[in-house]
Amino acid sequence: MLEATVHERNTILVPATPAALLQAAALLRAGALVAFPTETVYGLGANALDAKAVAGIFRAKGRPAHNPLIVHIAGQEMRNRVVALWPPLAQRLADAFWPGPLTLVLPKNPAVPDEVTGGGPTVAVRWPAHPLAAELIRLTDLPLAAPSANRSSELSPTRAEHVQKSLSGRIDLILDGGPTTAGIESTVLDLSQTPPVLLRPGPIALAELEAVCGPIRERADLPHTGPLPSPGMLARHYAPHTPVELLDSAECVQIRASELQRAGRRFAALVIEPNTTGIALPADPNAYAARLYDTLHALDAQAYEVILIECPPDTPGWVAVRDRLQRAATR
Ligand code: TXA
Ligand code: MG
Repeated sequence: MLEATVHERNTILVPATPAALLQAAALLRAGALVAFPTETVYGLGANALDAKAVAGIFRAKGRPAHNPLIVHIAGQEMRNRVVALWPPLAQRLADAFWPGPLTLVLPKNPAVPDEVTGGGPTVAVRWPAHPLAAELIRLTDLPLAAPSANRSSELSPTRAEHVQKSLSGRIDLILDGGPTTAGIESTVLDLSQTPPVLLRPGPIALAELEAVCGPIRERADLPHTGPLPSPGMLARHYAPHTPVELLDSAECVQIRASELQRAGRRFAALVIEPNTTGIALPADPNAYAARLYDTLHALDAQAYEVILIECPPDTPGWVAVRDRLQRAATR
């Protein structure tokens, strides 16, 4: 029965004009589901303080209930409606990186329903830098729970059309604000533990964070027992439908490409400039990240049997991109 109601929504896609933002804010206040652009990827928003609206996000995405959501805020007053504790360390990080692609995990305010946090005692909070996201939150005057606006475990959307393809008929409104700039999901840092733990690498690099808040533990350093500290970090995630093979170098891509060619298989190859064995993405990690999901969405629509990807070097600048590629290649 629940599945039936999920498909009944009439999804409207509109340019994010001032009038559309006002309409979106009214819808959100009434409990609707609205997709909107952020500087990282498009988010699927609902009133974070309304358990019923938030339950709608999980249904629309097919997301497991134990995987908690990021709450998006604009301004320090709104932050206090979401978190119970705001340590000096959080303030220093917010001064340095907010608004921006950094999500902080902190003890939750009792006003935040369990649906948002997967029943846990902490909440993830982020103040997005995208002007349309900030304006939408300001107009709604509510914190917005917003995971990436895609079906669970699929590629995150960097354009309104990606959202439409994945969630049409399941949500109420999509605000089109053009392509997003960072192109991969925010860095997630858990401040509820000492020292802080990096739960998801992202556009803000570990070294940038450590310059502000001192040593950070990486998830790989944690003991592998007990419950997952961030349930969303399951290996298979952010994946296109087409199988992905991650290869060590452009030469490996070339060798595999020749093999596939001889076998008459339909494949695409993603390499890093200046290589030209296939589609070449920029050699700068930020520029590469900005184009990665858009490129994978486009390739995914073309019925290839496999996508070959040259793995970028194992250096600090590429950590977030390598993380997403490894997840995309996990089946
Ligand atoms: O850039 C982004 O972060 C985008 C945009 C829309 O803001 N959002 C996004 O949300 O990527 P989502 O739901 O796809 O990923 C949220 C991640 C998941 O890995 C989730 O497990 C983790 O944040 N997370 C959320 N709340 C948490 C909590 N209380 N403790 C630990 N991890 C949490
Ligand atoms: Mg996601």
